[in-house]
Amino acid sequence: MLLDETTCAPPTARVAMVGGGQLARMTHRAAIDYGIDLHVLATSTEDPAVTAGANYTLGPADDATLLRQLAAGADVVTFDHELVPLDVLSSMAEQGSVIRPGAQALMLGCDKLFARAALSDLGELSIPVPAFASVFSTSDVTAFAGKHGWPVVLKARSGGYDGRGVVIVGNEAEAREVLSGHQPGEEARWVVEEHLDIVAEFAILTARSPSGMMATYPPIGTLQVDGICRELVIPADLPEEIVRQGALWARSVIQGFDATGIVAVEFFVTRDGRLLLNEFALRPHNSGHITFEACATSQFHQHLRAILDWPLGETALVRPAATVNLIADSSTMDIAACLPHALAVKDVYVHLYQKAPRPGRKIGHVTALADSTTEALELAREATRRFFP
Ligand SMILES: Nc1ncnc2c1ncn2[C@@H]1O[C@H](COP(=O)(O)OP(=O)(O)OP(=O)(O)O)[C@@H](O)[C@H]1O
Ligand SMILES: [Mg+2]
Repeated sequence: MLLDETTCAPPTARVAMVGGGQLARMTHRAAIDYGIDLHVLATSTEDPAVTAGANYTLGPADDATLLRQLAAGADVVTFDHELVPLDVLSSMAEQGSVIRPGAQALMLGCDKLFARAALSDLGELSIPVPAFASVFSTSDVTAFAGKHGWPVVLKARSGGYDGRGVVIVGNEAEAREVLSGHQPGEEARWVVEEHLDIVAEFAILTARSPSGMMATYPPIGTLQVDGICRELVIPADLPEEIVRQGALWARSVIQGFDATGIVAVEFFVTRDGRLLLNEFALRPHNSGHITFEACATSQFHQHLRAILDWPLGETALVRPAATVNLIADSSTMDIAACLPHALAVKDVYVHLYQKAPRPGRKIGHVTALADSTTEALELAREATRRFFP
């Protein structure tokens, strides 16, 4: 007998997500739990959210017609990356599409210079950020280094991720090489920053809903190697005062910019004892992958709850945890053959994104729970090693 259409209950909500990467894939997992229909705008049928079974439309994320179609079929539009046309999204919002975080907040998430400038203007808090300046030409970098010393850090204003678009330059010639192709007088596409002696990095995730509910997660310690996030622990091992200050600033950012959904705020602690706000992402974030097992509500469930203005979930720690990102070392890795060996490590949870392995590409992550973050890190590292026999 054919199933009558009416035997299938309608979805609880329809969410459109621009981008079909691993963040969309894990959001789809959360959407399944809540009976939400998630529809992604993907670039390929091999995108991680598409292979996970999300409904999809194929096309570029800056296609105005596709974005409008996507919004027309959804209660709310949200994002798995920032490479989106802000003008189109703003006009869609004016015409009644529900876009979360709002187009205004997204603008800050898309451009490191706008974000830094906006942070300086955020109320009376004057949240400290690394010294920075906008760059039009090599002479701007040289002038900045004259004040702050070499080396300096050049950052692409938009489009960077995993350290791509972040370059340490030690002198004028190196700066010129990075900026080559970038003509003086053009709109600046880089910012220059003081090079910091960083002793710890951490992220504070906070969710905020349109009706103003907020929920903040325990601090997540992040370890980056060559600009790419390798390992996470929760709770981060930090003095209480730093965590309190970081959480306060994270909440000020999300409120001050009237953002909704999950916001991840990244912090640096420097050797000379400064706490600086590095950047923020207005979407689920790599550091938050650890919340799947470590916290009562994952960042992906929380993001959906927040953008739909549903009650937010508990953010409390379930157990100390560590996550190691699986970064491919070759295109011939035999992930399927290694998986059972990794799963043999106790209390580990493996997440694979079904991305073709390529050297340097994040293809999954491994989380372990234990009685301490040190023990959890050992377990997660051991399971990860088993993917690289
Ligand atoms: N001013 C700085 N001084 C020293 N190291 C820095 C500085 N800025 C960034 N880094 C290092 O580079 C990493 C990546 O920088 P940042 O987070 O600004 O860029 P990103 O590539 O956009 O990051 P993400 O991968 O979070 O999207 C930081 O986590 C930090 O380890
Ligand atoms: Mg970062």
